[in-house]
Amino acid sequence: MVQLSKGANRIYGEAAFEVLAKAQELEGQGKSILHFEIGEPDMETPKNIAHAGIRAIQNRKTHYVPSIGLMELRKAVQNEVETTRGYRPDLEQIIITPGLKPGIFFSMLAVVNPGDEVIYQDPGYPTYGSVTSFVGAKGVLVPLLEENEFRMNPDDIKGRITKKTKLIIVNSPQNPTGSVMTKSEMEVIAELAEEHDIYVVSDEIYSKMTYDTGHYTPTSRDEAKERTVLLDGFSKYYAMTGWRLGYMVAPKRMAERLQDFLVSAVSCTAAFTQWAGVEALTGDQSFIPDMMARFKEKRDRIVEGLNSIPGFKCQTPKGAFYAFPNIKKTGMSSQECAGHLLYKAGVATLPGTAFGPYGEGYLRFSYATTLKNIDAAVNNIQGSFE
Ligand SMILES: Cc1ncc(COP(=O)(O)O)c(C=O)c1O
Repeated sequence: MVQLSKGANRIYGEAAFEVLAKAQELEGQGKSILHFEIGEPDMETPKNIAHAGIRAIQNRKTHYVPSIGLMELRKAVQNEVETTRGYRPDLEQIIITPGLKPGIFFSMLAVVNPGDEVIYQDPGYPTYGSVTSFVGAKGVLVPLLEENEFRMNPDDIKGRITKKTKLIIVNSPQNPTGSVMTKSEMEVIAELAEEHDIYVVSDEIYSKMTYDTGHYTPTSRDEAKERTVLLDGFSKYYAMTGWRLGYMVAPKRMAERLQDFLVSAVSCTAAFTQWAGVEALTGDQSFIPDMMARFKEKRDRIVEGLNSIPGFKCQTPKGAFYAFPNIKKTGMSSQECAGHLLYKAGVATLPGTAFGPYGEGYLRFSYATTLKNIDAAVNNIQGSFE
């Protein structure tokens, strides 16, 4: 039989979608399931943004646009990066993408060769490992330890850099642990990259979702002009996951090549989605602090609830909307515990191992749901262990 490519056999998917399918199967059998597996805000896209998208469709913004993105949106991103990151990128550095994810894929394809080494967090977002494996590079894992509040320790990166290291991927606020890197940790990572001539891709999709801290980027050091790439997007903090809209800020010579990746893969990002993005960045911003105040309440409620379950121990995450409790004292593996919760308590979560081997002993709860569901889940889980 004719074979698929080697790369096709190396790329892999995401457990979240598998758990969702299982949960929906149970719901199909009439069971009621509380959903904590899905990584998206439970709010609707703010009305002003949605209406800007609708208006754009009505005004026939439904055709091809330049693959690099609409000038209006790229200018809005330029101002946004200046306000939030403290440097003003050149317009040639700014590329609009359909969601943040293509930014991960294309920037990795643009810099990583087979045999290279890529350093990233474990537990971490599965796409980094999947693309590393697809390219034929080697993933070098930096464990995120509970005793270090799940932050990446720059010394651990330093100890893993070899002549083959091509790229370090940083994600803060982090999925799945909710950890937030400090300013000085980010500075050290940027310095290490400079010293050893390595690229840094910084996935900042949760950048506006911190509770008690600021948000820091390793791209400030070279202003994304030499070796750092900033990735951010509208999915999470504007509740726009389905619109598919993100952006990259990359060194100019890389940005030129990235445009050709975009032309070859997607032609361009939908024009009406980009007009909605202009409204998101330039319109009323009160949605975000309101949402974060509600998330903070949910965070505190779930952390308290999880800590009341025998065998569970949960730190208070500093960003995103994920809680990452330690479940080692239940005596179950992550996979077993997630299965127990789904079938015995009707609560869908993800095993920590869905994010890498160092996730063993943990579960990820996405608390983008109602306080009522959080209380019900905690109750059901308690009951399932009695
Ligand atoms: C760390 C991280 N990066 C990227 C993404 C994907 O973002 P988008 O939906 O904009 O492609 C997610 C979504 O869960 C994420 O958690």
